[in-house]
Amino acid sequence: MATRKDAAARATFLRGEILRHNERYYLQDDPEVSDAEYDLLVRELASLEEANPDLATPDSPTRAVAGFAGATFAPVVHAMPMMSLDNAMDLAELRGWGERVNRGLAGAPATYVCELKIDGLAMSLRYEGGTLVQAATRGDGRVGEDVTANIMTIAAVPKKLPTGSPAVVEVRGEVYMPIAAFEALNERQAALGVKRFVNPRNSAAGSLRQKDPRITASRELSMWCYQLGEVVGGPELTSHTASIEWLASLGFPVNPEIRALHSLDEVYAFTDQWLQHRHDLRYEIDGAVVKVDDLAQRHLLGFTSKAPRWAIAFKFPPEERTTLLLDIQVSIGRTGRATPFAVLEPVFVGGSTVAMATLHNQDQVRLKDVRPGDTVVVRKAGDVIPEVVGPVLSLRPEGLAEWTFPTVCPACKQVLVRPEGESDTRCLNADCPAQAWARVVHFGSRGAMDIEGLGERTVGVFIEAGLLDNVGDVYELPVRIARLRDLERFGEVSVQNLVGAIEGSKQRPLGNLLFGLNIRHVGATMGQVIARAFHHMDGLLEATEADIAAVDGVGGVIAASVAAWFAVPANRALIERLRAYGLNFEGPAAPTLPQTLAGMSIVVTGTVDGFSREGAEAAIKERGGKSPGSVSKKT
Ligand code: IVH
Repeated sequence: MATRKDAAARATFLRGEILRHNERYYLQDDPEVSDAEYDLLVRELASLEEANPDLATPDSPTRAVAGFAGATFAPVVHAMPMMSLDNAMDLAELRGWGERVNRGLAGAPATYVCELKIDGLAMSLRYEGGTLVQAATRGDGRVGEDVTANIMTIAAVPKKLPTGSPAVVEVRGEVYMPIAAFEALNERQAALGVKRFVNPRNSAAGSLRQKDPRITASRELSMWCYQLGEVVGGPELTSHTASIEWLASLGFPVNPEIRALHSLDEVYAFTDQWLQHRHDLRYEIDGAVVKVDDLAQRHLLGFTSKAPRWAIAFKFPPEERTTLLLDIQVSIGRTGRATPFAVLEPVFVGGSTVAMATLHNQDQVRLKDVRPGDTVVVRKAGDVIPEVVGPVLSLRPEGLAEWTFPTVCPACKQVLVRPEGESDTRCLNADCPAQAWARVVHFGSRGAMDIEGLGERTVGVFIEAGLLDNVGDVYELPVRIARLRDLERFGEVSVQNLVGAIEGSKQRPLGNLLFGLNIRHVGATMGQVIARAFHHMDGLLEATEADIAAVDGVGGVIAASVAAWFAVPANRALIERLRAYGLNFEGPAAPTLPQTLAGMSIVVTGTVDGFSREGAEAAIKERGGKSPGSVSKKT
């Protein structure tokens, strides 16, 4: 049984992780985990909050629509919020939803509409007087981004409605990139020698977030419309089916695979049929959406804070394919961790070609018993990180040898060590070039010091040229500028840009710096948590392990790791070096709420909606009030 403190720490951690993944997915179009893994985090947080209601914060990602309105485009406040959908992962969960609908309708029969769940981006199109005047992304559900100029370039989107159309029509749907367009785009990217897109969804998102609409125009985006937003002066519509038909009559692209069905068994058959045939489509889907058809029934069912109760997304399970395992190699990470990974005969799975997949650690390889030469099952959970599920034993060639973990580091040849009780094997050589490379790359990456131009290849070139050995050396690069200019393939402009980016990085927030320092267990979120708690690097330099463990959201393992890192003289020397280079060591000041309850004395008795008693007392004190245990004249 987890203690309350553990649960609180875990909830804080999960909330931070979910927000970080939201940011990568929605703002950077560069997700780090699969949809399935993301959903697991959200579900874990939801069940923690359910078991400990006082841990639920009003802004918890379990209650809010995921997503961000970025700063690149003008903000648009949606006339009606753009909601997200709850998920069902299997038939049992689908039935669970059916029962809730049934209860909500007091047993009255419902007709369901089943649609494909298009893997793209939600979009709102607003027409006034029959003319398209605004297109906005979902953003956080309340405020989205104005992408009108870009949407104007999409042929499938009507720019004018037939004469006599209502004064205001807002239509919602999914902008997507057809698979053929995605493949053609990636071929062009490859020919230009620039980074390929991961999948059609990310390329659609990236294409819409262009400042230059000509780039969007070249990306062949399309759209399916599936929902009405605000309508002024439209016809009386009583069902979803009728509104879809009306949309089609106005010239909106409506998906042809929409079906009205009368039982959940039929619904399940629909989802199952599309699970088998998803690749027959010329666009990607990641499931099906089931909606109650009758609009009066929808009204009865209503919404939760983030999703309608009258609809559910049935998400497809992760996709699987088989391919040949060519080799198992080991990479050395920035903290010395040796991670085995599979080198695969390239295979197209989950919307992109996979040639490598992580095998996590020694135990995982043994457990899965995959051997070079095996035919293996590869899974793309959601769309991002490929995984080797296991070997197809019936296809294993006779006499295939079991794979053994290397005993020495592939980069520095020092003996690898697996500490007792741990699952990871490590290279402990502080001077290992593979570690140095990975540490500097991480230091310069987005989320850490964000040094544009200091990518994987450049760092490799600098290390080889003897210009760089460790993180501190990054700030010597501007001094070694003459030698940078000597390097082949490094023009004057790149040198100037890099020097500018390095100088600019000195002002990054303390949380980014802490994340960039490669302290084990300190991710981007934890970096911010620690920066917020200690306000200044000096506070952290003086902190004991107990001080660090006392921070809300920091567990014992993390505190021990941070304390151990700061105890190493070389690391302290690095901090002093960075101080001398003028890096920002200042963290955020302690947050203060408006002191709206100053001078008041409020006693908490009974229950306060949404708070535990301690929580309510703390909230009063944070706002400047007093909360004594009993009533007095001042209360
Ligand atoms: S209905 C109020 N229908 O899935 C809910 N959404 O995971 C309106 N999506 O935000 C959404 N295909 O971007 C609906 N046929 C479909 C959809 C669909 C894809 C997306 C949409 C939504 C997300 C939720």
